[in-house]
Amino acid sequence: MTNNEEKFAGGVAVITGAGAGIGSGLARRAGQLGMHVVVTDINSTAAETVAGEIRDAGGKAEAMAVDVSKPSELDRLAEEVFAKHGSVRLLVNNAGIETIGFSWEIPAERWESTLNINLHGVIHGVRAFVPKMLATGEECWVANLASIGAFGMMPTQTAYIVTKHAVESFSECLYLEMQLKKAPIHVSSVIPGMLKTSIFDAEAGAGEPADSVGHRKVMHDMMAAYGMDLAEGCQRIMEKIAANEFWADTQPEMTEQSLAGRIKFFQQQSSPEVAPQARGLLGLD
Ligand SMILES: NC(=O)c1ccc[n+]([C@@H]2O[C@H](COP(=O)([O-])OP(=O)(O)OC[C@H]3O[C@@H](n4cnc5c(N)ncnc54)[C@H](O)[C@@H]3O)[C@@H](O)[C@H]2O)c1
Repeated sequence: MTNNEEKFAGGVAVITGAGAGIGSGLARRAGQLGMHVVVTDINSTAAETVAGEIRDAGGKAEAMAVDVSKPSELDRLAEEVFAKHGSVRLLVNNAGIETIGFSWEIPAERWESTLNINLHGVIHGVRAFVPKMLATGEECWVANLASIGAFGMMPTQTAYIVTKHAVESFSECLYLEMQLKKAPIHVSSVIPGMLKTSIFDAEAGAGEPADSVGHRKVMHDMMAAYGMDLAEGCQRIMEKIAANEFWADTQPEMTEQSLAGRIKFFQQQSSPEVAPQARGLLGLD
């Protein structure tokens, strides 16, 4: 039995935004490791499809429609899962969207949904589940999706970057709160470098300024060409979560590069600068 299976087999995993992309990859991996997977997504058909794939592969899974931008839906999810299964060993607050455009051109509704899904969805996932996890007294794991963008700057992805910096600091404080509480809950910050998913697909940009289309297409094509295979990335993430590592990244060299840039920025107290690798994308060269 691998370390991952020893930790997770037989437990319940709840994953948000698991109808596609990283959430679906983590759900499949959790199924392979012998977990009962609660596949949740705002898109109920997508969640059903992923749950069906896990069952077809011999695993255990069920689907639930959950919109993480609504705290009451996360409360309902926690109530239903604990009433049915009695415990949750792994919670992954994964659902997230990209938003592209100059800060002042993004409509209020798109700002709201970006903050509500990417940040408040993580906070209220923790608020809804952690008290119930603590009450069981069992060892369990909470993993929140940050990003390599949590350590840098990216003009015209400001709304997204703001949420990822905030999720990273939320997870850091949450980790320390578990220590203060002497709680048997491990916290990981998941930092995908770049995994092949649908996050930059054109239809995901509904409500963005019209000229975001070009930026989305470049990012989409870059992801398709250079992104890591989804299954491989999700396997790496699950290994790090199972090893109780706070930093659950997929491409450590990308994490190190971003952190080095951030550290230099702070140490030199220099003015914000576009990273060299992003200059072409923004038409600066
Ligand atoms: N793909 C990457 O390389 C990458 C890099 C860094 C961080 N991330 C983060 O990983 C997470 C997943 O991204 P992805 O690339 O798999 O995206 P994706 O677009 O492929 O999948 C996101 C899923 O979330 C669901 N979703 C959207 N709004 C929701 C809501 N309100 N409630 C519930 N579900 C909702 C979508 O239906 C979709 O199934 C995000 O938090 C993202 O910021 C991804």
